[in-house]
Amino acid sequence: MGAKPKTEIICRCNNVSRKTIEEAIRDGAQTLNDIFDATSAGVGPCGGSCRRKLGPLLEHYLKTGQFPETITEDLTGKLPKKD
Ligand code: FES
Repeated sequence: MGAKPKTEIICRCNNVSRKTIEEAIRDGAQTLNDIFDATSAGVGPCGGSCRRKLGPLLEHYLKTGQFPETITEDLTGKLPKKD
């Protein structure tokens, strides 16, 4: 099976796919908290490293009404830089 962008796993802790997250946003999630509640993405034991993807995905949808082709991770000060 080839890699399909929509089934990309965004939250590895809780095994939540991009598709599940997009559905939650389409269903009306407007904040990260809504996404946490609807999908359990972002609240796993890693402390939420996937939030840097959830944030931009949600923001893009709220601004444009569609999901981006690729998710631009928000690395601005959310997590320590790996060297
Ligand atoms: S990867 Fe989503 S909470 Fe850990």
